[in-house]
Amino acid sequence: MSAIEVDRLSHVYSGAEGGVPALQDISLSVEPGKFVVIVGPSGCGKTSLLMMLAGLRHQSSGTILCDGRPITAPDPSRVGVVFQEASLFPWLTSLDNTEFPLALRGTPRAERRRRAEEMLNLVGLKGFGARYPHELSGGMKQRVSIARGLVQDPPVLLMDEPFAALDEQTRMTMGHELLRIWSKTRKTVVFITHSLTEAVYLADEVLVMSPRPGRIIDRITIDLPRPRTYEMMATDTFGKLRERIWQQIRKPE
Ligand SMILES: Nc1ncnc2c1ncn2[C@@H]1O[C@H](COP(=O)(O)OP(=O)(O)OP(=O)(O)O)[C@@H](O)[C@H]1O
Ligand SMILES: [Mg+2]
Repeated sequence: MSAIEVDRLSHVYSGAEGGVPALQDISLSVEPGKFVVIVGPSGCGKTSLLMMLAGLRHQSSGTILCDGRPITAPDPSRVGVVFQEASLFPWLTSLDNTEFPLALRGTPRAERRRRAEEMLNLVGLKGFGARYPHELSGGMKQRVSIARGLVQDPPVLLMDEPFAALDEQTRMTMGHELLRIWSKTRKTVVFITHSLTEAVYLADEVLVMSPRPGRIIDRITIDLPRPRTYEMMATDTFGKLRERIWQQIRKPE
């Protein structure tokens, strides 16, 4: 069974003159444990689609199944989300931020401490649990966000440009770290980015979207071996894959 199954999803935001058509006839299927990256021009509906996959917004038509069951409302035990800006509570420590979703669900304190510490270790923040967000670098804050996204052990992790605010060097490191975490946890990941290099480096499959209203115009299998290495970026195969995505994105309508 697919981890995520989207069938003929369309969305129109209400507004003047019949509204804003944002997404059109999106169908996609993600196998469990796969890393899928979505790219497409700004405003094509990527975030909208992710919000719908997370149950945070409802589509005008079409269905979304996660683990065979419809997604109609947020369900952090099935789907974790990491946004572009690390959306941490400034008044909570890293540990409290990480365990926040568990606290909401009423998980006993000792148990949520244990889980949150485990997740902070996993993202490389051992010993930083007592720090507040203002005491952390941008990359560290994103790590806390990832830890929080993983803390309920959801089979699916959705990430909307999680590294966009980071400098290039930190971003590369974080991408590599994410693959390490992913290979340990075997989550199904749907990841949005504007960076074509990041897309090819991370993905099993890249879905390319058209300008708004967003449709899927290409699906590119990235058959580079794993684990991925920085050296692969300099190869011909990598360059060709990147070029193919770029050609699709820049294609005139
Ligand atoms: N709440 C909303 N109400 C009305 N229109 C919206 C709303 N949210 C998004 N839109 C419109 O829907 C379209 C898609 O927006 P969305 O944020 O999903 O794009 P995106 O692909 O994530 O863009 P970016 O790459 O810039 O993040 C845009 O034209 C946007 O103006
Ligand atoms: Mg967006």
